[in-house]
Amino acid sequence: MSDTRDAVFDWVDERADARSAAGLTRRLRPRPAKSDVLELSGNDYLGFSRDKRVVGAAAAAALKWGAGATGSRLVSGTTELHAELERELAAFCGAQAALVFSSGYAANLGAVTALAGKDTAIVAEQYMHASLIDACRQSRAQVAVARHCDVAAVDRALATRKVPRAMMITESVFSVDGDVAPLADIAASCRAHGAALLIDDAHGFGVIGDGGRGGVHEAGLSGDADVVTTMTLSKSLGAQGGAVLGPRRVIAHLVNSARSFIFDTGLAPASAGAALTALNLLREDPQRPARALWAASELSRQLLDKGLPASTPASAVVSVRAPSADAAVSWAAAIREQDIAVGCFRPPSAPDDVSRLRLTARADLTEAEIDRAVRVVTETAPR
Ligand SMILES: Cc1ncc(COP(=O)(O)O)c(C=O)c1O
Repeated sequence: MSDTRDAVFDWVDERADARSAAGLTRRLRPRPAKSDVLELSGNDYLGFSRDKRVVGAAAAAALKWGAGATGSRLVSGTTELHAELERELAAFCGAQAALVFSSGYAANLGAVTALAGKDTAIVAEQYMHASLIDACRQSRAQVAVARHCDVAAVDRALATRKVPRAMMITESVFSVDGDVAPLADIAASCRAHGAALLIDDAHGFGVIGDGGRGGVHEAGLSGDADVVTTMTLSKSLGAQGGAVLGPRRVIAHLVNSARSFIFDTGLAPASAGAALTALNLLREDPQRPARALWAASELSRQLLDKGLPASTPASAVVSVRAPSADAAVSWAAAIREQDIAVGCFRPPSAPDDVSRLRLTARADLTEAEIDRAVRVVTETAPR
């Protein structure tokens, strides 16, 4: 009798062939610890991931508390560092309370599934992050998708929902083009319809808002009784982990019912220590976010001057449209050959199916680095 084991995953090869034909194959490429590459592909907006004070805090926390959290937050995985980080995050952003998760992905999953269920209508922003989409699916709520940044669509979906409980979900800053959601108008619509508002501030926190307090703060919504903010500690704070900020009773509810909090090992002490130190440094240097914003607007302005289809950023993210997925991949590779790393977004990561390069600015970018990036991106552009 022939062995059928070899055939079990044949379908995987078919998928790989289809991906390859569409120019959508993804590959992992380890980055060296030290290199001369100009890094414009990450999310280290404030340059904290390599800051010696932040890295030193991570090392000190690991030496004091151990390499891992040793258990879930409710069992053995909460240290004084986690508690302090939660207090400081909430105080900085003007929220009543905060809860730290092992990643931003887990924070979104936990917040949405704990706050929405079969009896909830979710209005979901069209371009929201995959973690929020997965969270909506897991929540089993009734989901209506509202067109990108379309407040009238949010209004309509909330008005025509079939169940009383409702929650609107959006990002503050969108990760692909760096545009900002009309949060104040969305909040007004939610209030008119008695709906909660959950805002993922992953790309806003540390970059926009007073001293980097984020998009929710900038929109005047921090501390509001009907608003919940999620964020990651892995972008502006240069560490790892995620957090949910909101009313005290909501945070207590998450401790008791967010499955990605309860059934997950707590955030590693090193990451909590790094994030806490980065947050303190951000508070001490409130101009740092403005430097990241300046670098992004310079990149965009100069690329537009060269005739390239660059976005005009309201954040630290600049995208440049490519004619096709293949062209985007070859363009990014040609740029990489000249020792500059840029992001390359293709479907399904590009929400509107338009492939593009993504350049992320950092507070520590110099004028010479910006000029070099613009020159190389322009010289390698597809004809
Ligand atoms: C908008 C948004 N939300 C959530 C996440 C997930 O955060 P983390 O990487 O900490 O899991 C990301 C990160 O890629 C993101 O861009």
